[in-house]
Amino acid sequence: MRIAAVSDIHARPNGVDNDLLRAIRERVTEFDPDVFIIAGDMNEQIKELEHNLSKVRVDGCKNLYVSGNHDIWFEEDKGIGSLEKYSHLMKEACERSGFVHLPDEPCLVEDIAFIGSIGWYDYSFRCEDLDIPLENYEMKQYRDSYWRDLYCIDWSLTDVEATSLLNQKLIYDLETLPESVKCVVYISHHLPFLELTLYKDRLPWDFFSAFMGAVSSGEILKQDSRVVLSISGHSHIRSVLKLDSLMALTVPVGYGRPHKDDLDSFVDSAIAEIIIRDNEVELLHFVEGDLCQNLPYSFG
Ligand SMILES: [Fe+2]
Ligand SMILES: [Fe+2]
Repeated sequence: MRIAAVSDIHARPNGVDNDLLRAIRERVTEFDPDVFIIAGDMNEQIKELEHNLSKVRVDGCKNLYVSGNHDIWFEEDKGIGSLEKYSHLMKEACERSGFVHLPDEPCLVEDIAFIGSIGWYDYSFRCEDLDIPLENYEMKQYRDSYWRDLYCIDWSLTDVEATSLLNQKLIYDLETLPESVKCVVYISHHLPFLELTLYKDRLPWDFFSAFMGAVSSGEILKQDSRVVLSISGHSHIRSVLKLDSLMALTVPVGYGRPHKDDLDSFVDSAIAEIIIRDNEVELLHFVEGDLCQNLPYSFG
């Protein structure tokens, strides 16, 4: 099973990043995977997201998408809310652009099951040493800094409730897999393992680390020996973690954009290439760290 993965492309609206999307599609096509995975954060507007997905979709393989937090930011001008996006609109947008929205239901390819979830955060990644009261995390604000989901996610769930609900869905998906499934690949946007997070011993960075993921989601994965690979986004720092028979990765691009002469090498660094053979995961090609360090920032 050949798998290509990337996340957090954050493609800008109006086709501005079409060259980047084309380069990703060409690079992945060259690898010739069975499954191409994008682990969220394509665009805040669902129309733009659909356009971008259709540009990056690869022929001749399964194209799987998992929503990121940016993808479900509400669109006030269109009257579209976060829950409506996650539970309905993402599925439709993915289908129209040739992707499967994996959180809706697991996807079976041969004897491997791909299970997806946006994942969420419950502040279990927070740095206790910072001595910041729990209320600040619940308010997503500390001094002058705030986590943008505060103003952009409008579902009526607390973060702890959202994490719990998504964990229940993950358990359900694992428990209801057919017996023929030999191994499981988990794909989420938020991180299931704290060890994938980079702490910098400075604020507000380490305050924001609390919004990276949930330890409880990783515990569910660790308890199921069929789970051999976990692929996530959200953190814009690329990491790899090995836990017994489970390998976990983060595969983001990020907000930086290279000079056009460097686009191909940038994209080459962004695509993770993985092979699963006899339940063994082999990481063929993976670049760690921050791909966007020292590059011009392109957000918005
Ligand atoms: Fe992101
Ligand atoms: Fe994100």
